[in-house]
Amino acid sequence: MADEKSIEQMSLNDNSAVAASAIEDVVDPWNVSTSSATGVDYDKLITRFGSSKVQPALIERFETVTGHRAHHLLRRGIFFSHREFDNILTLHEKGKPFYLYTGRGPSSEAMHIGHLIPFIFTKWLQEVFDVPLVIQLTDDEKFLWKDLKLEECRRLAKENIKDIIAIGFDPAKTFIFTDFDYMSSVPEFYRNVIRVQRCVTFNQAKGIFGFDDSSCIGKIAFPAIQAVPSFSSSFPHIFGDKKDIQCLIPCAIDQDPYFRMTRDVAPRLGFRKPALLHSTFFPALQGAQTKMSASDPNSSIGLTDTDKQIKTKINKYAFSGGGATTEEHREKGGNCDVDISYQYLTFLLEDDERLEQIRKDYTSGELLTGYLKKELIEILQPLIGAHRERRKAVTDETVKEFTTPRKLNYTPSNPTAAS
Ligand code: TRP
Repeated sequence: MADEKSIEQMSLNDNSAVAASAIEDVVDPWNVSTSSATGVDYDKLITRFGSSKVQPALIERFETVTGHRAHHLLRRGIFFSHREFDNILTLHEKGKPFYLYTGRGPSSEAMHIGHLIPFIFTKWLQEVFDVPLVIQLTDDEKFLWKDLKLEECRRLAKENIKDIIAIGFDPAKTFIFTDFDYMSSVPEFYRNVIRVQRCVTFNQAKGIFGFDDSSCIGKIAFPAIQAVPSFSSSFPHIFGDKKDIQCLIPCAIDQDPYFRMTRDVAPRLGFRKPALLHSTFFPALQGAQTKMSASDPNSSIGLTDTDKQIKTKINKYAFSGGGATTEEHREKGGNCDVDISYQYLTFLLEDDERLEQIRKDYTSGELLTGYLKKELIEILQPLIGAHRERRKAVTDETVKEFTTPRKLNYTPSNPTAAS
């Protein structure tokens, strides 16, 4: 009971109490929805979750410290929120080690373009910082939450691993694992799970995750399993006996509850709190009220979609912020804030000037929705096509290479840092 009154825990409960009251946006690991056509109010979310906004000064510092231009996903506010990213920059500056951790819940075979975004960004971070990366596939989580057979969850995880590998990670620096396999092969991982489980009461889990008396006990215990890849001692084959190497977790903001809990318990276990970079959601084709969903193929662009399917889906479903008629559009202009093709271009079109020109010309009414859609289709088709080809080249051997517990390359390698 005394446990429950610690200040850190109070702040956890405070956050969730606010979450339950004021807001109409629903954002948790299982649901994302809002009634607003412009999507979730992300600034409000920062206040509610108690994270920090990625400010221009932080991006500038990133560029100074790394000597790299910031990724467009960072420049455009898609990775909009963080916890302690400044500390990661300090570590890099000093040539001190850290690592990256991200993950995926394998709920379906059909991954879509929205799933790629955090991985594309993570790959870029790995290249910039030259640090190890661990990727967790929570096949156990999906077994607990979805109506799927256990063997099916394992199979989906293996299939998803192939898509993740196809993004182009470096096998010398990347370890991919599924919970079912890893938990039963490396004892240090489960020991950390149990340590976390002892620190969190049912009451706190209810406050953070919204569990209730009818939640199965597997769900209540699961968050510890997503927490522990944040601790370097969970990967002895990578970090040896080093318990204090910090990690940076790039993820969509809906995963933050897991890591609020993780950050809360870490100091009590003598571990470093993970740093985070949070992204907005990749909106559904039908509009930003919800995110892309794998269970509704018409809401998303799938990684196995053909050129023709991509074209049809964008033309048929991508919600338009344009006028109802050409005349009305020319007169009043289009609304980029709700236009899905424009939103997707902000995720995918790298050229800042071109994007800005499109924004201006669409807003003024000079460009029609059809043009935006054509532009988007021309970016998506080669992007998905190239992914399809790389995915075909991934063999069982390649999967083994990434999933075998082994030493990774983690010598701190900022050559300019004073040691
Ligand atoms: N729970 C996440 C999902 O359902 C998967 C996941 C596990 C994850 N560990 C993570 C996502 C770390 C981001 C970062 O998709």
